[in-house]
Amino acid sequence: MKKSILFSGTAIAAILVAVVLSAFAPHSGKGDQDVAKPIPDNVMAIFQNSCAKCHTQGGSGAALANVNFTKWESYDSAKQAKKATAICKTIQAGKMPPKSFINKNPNAVLTDAQKTIICSWAK
Ligand code: HEC
Repeated sequence: MKKSILFSGTAIAAILVAVVLSAFAPHSGKGDQDVAKPIPDNVMAIFQNSCAKCHTQGGSGAALANVNFTKWESYDSAKQAKKATAICKTIQAGKMPPKSFINKNPNAVLTDAQKTIICSWAK
């Protein structure tokens, strides 16, 4: 009798410890904003068409120093957020893609719809 009380006491204590530990265990989701993320396909398709020539591996050195889409997934979340904001600002201002590039590649011009897609992703 005494033994079984002792045993169930131990069992309950073990369960309590397990519950408490799981409550404090780090969860994988730190909250979506903190986690570095790949660029969604619809946004990447625009970058592929209008930006990739300079801003992916093998592109222009000066462009890559600012944004390298090939290495995007190795940027941490803070860097991604900063770059995304810069991208939105730059395209809204009409600075990217550069005029000289657009002259030779008219289909690289960003439409208003594409700018909206990029900037809502950037947020
Ligand atoms: C013809 C090559 C070329 C293309 C195409 C191009 N860029 Fe750039 N980009 C550059 C170069 C070179 C720089 C660095 C020199 C500078 O700031 O002008 C740069 C700089 C940037 C910067 C950082 C400077 C800033 O103005 O904030 C951002 C952000 C950027 N590009 C985004 C884009 C995006 C987004 C696209 C596509 C919509 C794009 N670029 C297309 C060459 C290019």
